[in-house]
Amino acid sequence: MKFLVLGSINLDMTFSVDHIVKKGETESSTGLTINAGGKGANQAASLAKAGSIVYFAGKLGEDGKWVLDTLSSFGADTTLSIIGKDERTGEAIIQLDKSGENCILLFPGGNRKFEEEEVKEIISHFDEGDYILMQNEINLLPVAFKEAKKKGMKIAFNPSPYEKILMDLPLEDVSLFFVNEVEAKEMSGYGKDAKGEEDFIAMGRILSSKYPDAIVVLTAGKHGAYAFEKAEYAYSPIVDYPVEDTTGAGDTFSGYFLKALTSGSSLKEALDISSIASGLAVSRKGAMGAMPYWSEVMDVYQKSI
Ligand code: RIB
Repeated sequence: MKFLVLGSINLDMTFSVDHIVKKGETESSTGLTINAGGKGANQAASLAKAGSIVYFAGKLGEDGKWVLDTLSSFGADTTLSIIGKDERTGEAIIQLDKSGENCILLFPGGNRKFEEEEVKEIISHFDEGDYILMQNEINLLPVAFKEAKKKGMKIAFNPSPYEKILMDLPLEDVSLFFVNEVEAKEMSGYGKDAKGEEDFIAMGRILSSKYPDAIVVLTAGKHGAYAFEKAEYAYSPIVDYPVEDTTGAGDTFSGYFLKALTSGSSLKEALDISSIASGLAVSRKGAMGAMPYWSEVMDVYQKSI
């Protein structure tokens, strides 16, 4: 079984700041680093570092070739990615504050320039039972959903960044959702912000009954993570490492969860493993570069059981 991540690839321009800049304010940063990123590429990196057979297909310019090289150095196959001569690689302007929290502004670049034939060609390399993992940073998601379904692939979807139009996708074809609390609230139609366990469970249950064929994984930041499957759910608290940089924490979680679940772990085991992986990732700076390898995660996991 293979994984295809059809998704974004970005140059992450990370500005270290005292606080996230406010409207009308100018602030001088204390540092600038350029990291390999993009939700799609990050999730492919997480799957690769966890030991999966993963293909990453993104669209970018020559300026982002080093990001693809970084991704292949982690073990991902990037040969289905498209480097356009006149394309510019997507960019993310990230403000990273003293507590490790961030806010992100995106320039889509090549990420939103896929053509229909390109998407079809990429998906033609996969077979029934393979997984496709997508997020909302590329164009032509409806085409990708349709082609993946035709092939009998399993669809894993992370509706991030959330937009209302995503609800027009054939979401009943999804096997696995990765949602955070904002996405869960929007997609479930839950009338209030989540404050604690009761709200997270209520949102998850609504989504689970709306999409009964899917597993719904809800990551709730410092409140931990939940996984819902029909009437059942599992929970895992966060693994508390000192926070350096939360960029890519959710992406680490998604990749590890998919790897663990498809390797035979229960929902609870997959949540616990993924919580360790993302805890380790946030304790270091950067996105895909900060993600741990499977052996490091297993060392911590074995000691915890
Ligand atoms: O999920 C984190 C990622 O979101 C960053 O790497 C940035 O590129 C944006 O795509």
